[in-house]
Amino acid sequence: MSDPSARTLPLHIAIIMDGNGRWAARRGLPRTMGHRKGVEAVRETVRAAGELGIRYLTLYAFSSENWSRPEPEVNDLMGLLKVFIRRDLAELHRQNVRVRIIGDRWNLRSDVLPLLLEAEETTRNNTAITVCIAFNYGSRDEIARAMQSLAVDVAEGRLSPEQITPPLIASRLDTAGMPDPDLVIRTSGEERLSNFLLWQSAYSEFVFMPEYWPDFDRAMLMRAIDIYRQRDRRFGNVAPASAAASSATPPPASLAVGS
Ligand code: FPP
Repeated sequence: MSDPSARTLPLHIAIIMDGNGRWAARRGLPRTMGHRKGVEAVRETVRAAGELGIRYLTLYAFSSENWSRPEPEVNDLMGLLKVFIRRDLAELHRQNVRVRIIGDRWNLRSDVLPLLLEAEETTRNNTAITVCIAFNYGSRDEIARAMQSLAVDVAEGRLSPEQITPPLIASRLDTAGMPDPDLVIRTSGEERLSNFLLWQSAYSEFVFMPEYWPDFDRAMLMRAIDIYRQRDRRFGNVAPASAAASSATPPPASLAVGS
């Protein structure tokens, strides 16, 4: 592939990790085995993204719609997240990874929420890469919660309706302070967003890959980045991609190497 240290490296990659169940079914295994192998792919992807210089990685781990799955599968996914945080938090901290959680955290089970809060708190000053886990996340729910907080401010006289601008809305989303994803990857051949980062992906590039998530690895991440780097991003403008990209999402100094 072309040099991944060039300025067109995506600052923020978001991934819809799809196909765990089908990966398992192909092998005659229970779906839970697909999720288990999926966690290994998460580990490898976090490591590879950090090494490649990606600054933000958002992973869609559990959607607000996933509650409708059979209870044993929901319990298994909760258990896997708990094990991931318990076992990997020290290593993530050592790798200077900041963990962030997006989604409706206040409705989470009492055995899950404290772990998520601990992961955020322990790693809050880390700077190498932010790994954002979308858990109990649904984009429409996130936008509705942001709208509710704005409506309260209007009703209580702190805000007037004309002050509600796109940047103000963005500042009330769970992703406040994070750049929008440059690249959204979905595995398993499905080509839809499934209620993931609807607001934030307005100008994202999409790469759909046929492989199932448990097979995702460093080489696939590099392939997706390579496809992304061949895209011409105009952000609604007619200017050359490099000018448009640099004015819309200037890369941090660490990514400007080789530009
Ligand atoms: C989609 O596959 C995947 C999920 C709903 C869960 C993703 C979760 C993990 C990879 C493990 C936990 C994550 C972390 C961050 C520790 P699917 O079950 O919908 O597969 P299918 O479409 O083939 O049935």
